[in-house]
Amino acid sequence: MGILFVLLIAGITIGMSRADFINEDAAYVMLPKQQQDSLASKEAFKKVYTVLMHPRCLNCHPKGDIPLQGEDSHLHGMSPRRGKDGKGMFAMKCANCHQNENSPGKHAPPGNPEWHLPPADMKMVFEGKSAPELAKQLTDRSKNGNKSIKELIEHADDTLVKAGWHPAEGLSKPPMSHQEFKEFWITWLKNGAYAPEASE
Ligand code: HEC
Ligand code: HEC
Repeated sequence: MGILFVLLIAGITIGMSRADFINEDAAYVMLPKQQQDSLASKEAFKKVYTVLMHPRCLNCHPKGDIPLQGEDSHLHGMSPRRGKDGKGMFAMKCANCHQNENSPGKHAPPGNPEWHLPPADMKMVFEGKSAPELAKQLTDRSKNGNKSIKELIEHADDTLVKAGWHPAEGLSKPPMSHQEFKEFWITWLKNGAYAPEASE
């Protein structure tokens, strides 16, 4: 009887702290299944996809080990390679040329203190992926760097994501504002992170 009572109290406490956690972090979790709008989720992802496929994002999410460049996403000049940690190899470390800030002038390297590719064991490839493929990949913890929904939502404010809206001179920005992107990103995730059908 005593043990039962302890278990009951423990159960209530766990239940409560879990509920508190969800309330506190409500902005960062998926809605309960009954409240999800799968159509809104899919529509939002289609907008998100137009940003992911934009060269400011795609150029750092290549299928090969060499980053891409420019509006036509051609292979990076002088072929710097990803390396194990994504930060380049030997004399071709990304940070040797990519400074903390954009370097001034056309065809100068864009800058950010974190400038690098995803690592060799977690390439996070966007290049060549269809919208349904990418939607599934982004929420697959074995392919997204083990990110939870909360961490994915937070990633919208990642310094390299924001770098997309701070391009080097003469390069275009993604097709919507960062704020709009963030709203579509969160709508997609909160409503169940549904992948659109291939034909949609
Ligand atoms: C300078 C290179 C660079 C640029 C530019 C860049 N990314 Fe990334 N991105 C990375 C790296 C490196 C990681 C892995 C970091 C991590 O896991 O925290 C990453 C991870 C991600 C992830 C999480 C991983 C996943 O597959 O779920 C998303 C989402 C993402 N980037 C979106 C974008 C978007 C959107 C843009 C453009 C607005 C962008 N990135 C621009 C380098 C870049
Ligand atoms: C030897 C110098 C050098 C090294 C090393 C280097 N880059 Fe670059 N990178 C540049 C220059 C210069 C540009 C701009 C080229 C242009 O616009 O014509 C550039 C452009 C880029 C772009 C295109 C940006 C855009 O928005 O289109 C990406 C992505 C990129 N570099 C990633 C990397 C990564 C990741 C590494 C390390 C693995 C790296 N670079 C290493 C010099 C370098």
